[in-house]
Amino acid sequence: MSKENIVKDGTLRSFGRLANRMSKQEQSELDTMLDKYSINLEQAQTLKDDSPDTEFLIEVGCGKGEQIIHRAKNNPEKQYIACEVFKNSLAKIAKQIEEHDLKNLKIFYEDARILLENIQEDSIDTVMVLYPDPWPKEKHKKRRIVNQELLDLTYRIIKPEGKLILATDITDYALWMIQHVLNHGKFNCLAKYPNEWSVEPDGWHTTSYEQKARKFGRSSWYLQFAKGELEKQFTKASKAHLERLKKED
Ligand SMILES: C[S@@+](CC[C@H](N)C(=O)[O-])C[C@H]1O[C@@H](n2cnc3c(N)ncnc32)[C@H](O)[C@@H]1O
Repeated sequence: MSKENIVKDGTLRSFGRLANRMSKQEQSELDTMLDKYSINLEQAQTLKDDSPDTEFLIEVGCGKGEQIIHRAKNNPEKQYIACEVFKNSLAKIAKQIEEHDLKNLKIFYEDARILLENIQEDSIDTVMVLYPDPWPKEKHKKRRIVNQELLDLTYRIIKPEGKLILATDITDYALWMIQHVLNHGKFNCLAKYPNEWSVEPDGWHTTSYEQKARKFGRSSWYLQFAKGELEKQFTKASKAHLERLKKED
């Protein structure tokens, strides 16, 4: 494994390219905006102490930020953190923050897992990972961001009734997500029946990525979990359902 594929302590890189070509001017504009609109680790470490009654939502790998920007505009009383590493997307998010004067949206522009590690325990209401890079080849699946490490990081920082929302248009990845959450064992699945996995979460805003998937005939999986023990009955039913889906896939 080459060195640049390792983020830290053996954690694999979960993203592809970091940028498309940018001029010096574009890079310098981006640096200026990131200085203004990003959150640093020191601030992340005291979120709960600084704003104990505020609702916080983090999106891991938000791309152009369409979902989180929409939510931030509609809920000025809540605080949002958009995590992304792809520079051209970061420039788009920062421009939107500036244009709409969004005081409640901050950017984290390094690997999202570094932010999650540094946030205080029990302080975040919702963590979303929407349409993560699918890494479809068998040898690349170990790069998928939804894994035990991410579930541990998320579990630690969400509030006792906090939510983890996962979405994908790739059936193999949806099954992978469900299997990993079941194996983790500490999240409660909010869907009582598997058909709820095709229902958009509250406050949903479709993104160009999701629209493209639909154009190609791929529907989405919306998987919502809360902190708390899995109900045994659900575990049994969903495991059986999972086995059936795996056979159909
Ligand atoms: C397929 S895109 C989906 C973007 C967006 N969530 C949407 O639904 O339109 C996945 C994004 O996750 C970002 N990403 C992957 N791993 C990441 C990480 N560890 N930290 C921050 N961003 C990451 C990638 O750069 C990419 O932009």
